[in-house]
Amino acid sequence: MLKRAFSRVRRRLSLHNEPGLPALDLRQFEISERLFKGFPFLEPHRGASGICDLHFQDRELRGAIACTPAEATLLHLAALNLKPQKALEIGSYIGWSSAHIASALDNKLTCVDPFLEIGSSLMEETSQCAKQRFLDNMARCGLDQKIKLVCGKSPDILPELVPNGGWDFAFVDGWHLDDQPVRDLIGLLPYLQGEAVIILHDPWIRDVRDGLVLLLLKGFNLYVCDTANYLTFCWRGQLTDGLRKTIAMSKTDRLTSHISKERKAGFGLGLKTLDQLAAAGMATPS
Ligand SMILES: C[S@@+](CC[C@H](N)C(=O)[O-])C[C@H]1O[C@@H](n2cnc3c(N)ncnc32)[C@H](O)[C@@H]1O
Repeated sequence: MLKRAFSRVRRRLSLHNEPGLPALDLRQFEISERLFKGFPFLEPHRGASGICDLHFQDRELRGAIACTPAEATLLHLAALNLKPQKALEIGSYIGWSSAHIASALDNKLTCVDPFLEIGSSLMEETSQCAKQRFLDNMARCGLDQKIKLVCGKSPDILPELVPNGGWDFAFVDGWHLDDQPVRDLIGLLPYLQGEAVIILHDPWIRDVRDGLVLLLLKGFNLYVCDTANYLTFCWRGQLTDGLRKTIAMSKTDRLTSHISKERKAGFGLGLKTLDQLAAAGMATPS
């Protein structure tokens, strides 16, 4: 038993072992290439999931890692195809994902971030520097009028922000540990429209995966994309045409990392595993 546990740990660690910084090549990602000009402080980062792909980090702020161009493009396409009227983002960092979503919307995107994740830890107070970087990046992209920034903590701040009728689109990418993803989702669910789509980033991290299990228990369907951080679409009821189209696009060569079933299973992200976890009631909040 111990031997099995050890080999599991070793396998997980080996997933993080790939050296090398990916080349900064955005030619295949038209929208990312255009927006990147508004982010002069971003530099390449290889990410943390073990799938070595081009990620980004602010070279002065460090702390969090922004999503890959493929994931950012998928967020943009999801917003284009779903045409949400009331969109929310939890966890914006320097605004890379925010810019991709907002640039596809007719209305404003509400972004919630306390800007605490700087360097390698969570700080007590908002980093004014990080907040200003977000605002400057949005202005350089010409998106300042498309974004409503709320400098506060999810889920506590959510009730006072709810739009009439609730949100119909939520990208959840805030603090990834300490049960926070499950707390974010529990806080969010009462304020969603019935047809709302939730998109989660990083379910290869256990606390985020617990969030997926919670959504399964609440009757959501999931599609885990083959992207470096397993961007996951979650919806209730019938798959809409917009989401079907987005999921189909996620399978095209440009947007997929062709992740093997085994690697996904190593993170418990096979659909069977997720269903079994949900059936066992794991991550059920009291
Ligand atoms: C992984 S980063 C977001 C990256 C961004 N979505 C992107 O791809 O460009 C996580 C962000 O969550 C923020 N965060 C931490 N705790 C939070 C909370 N309680 N509510 C909202 N955001 C939070 C951090 O300040 C950090 O900026």
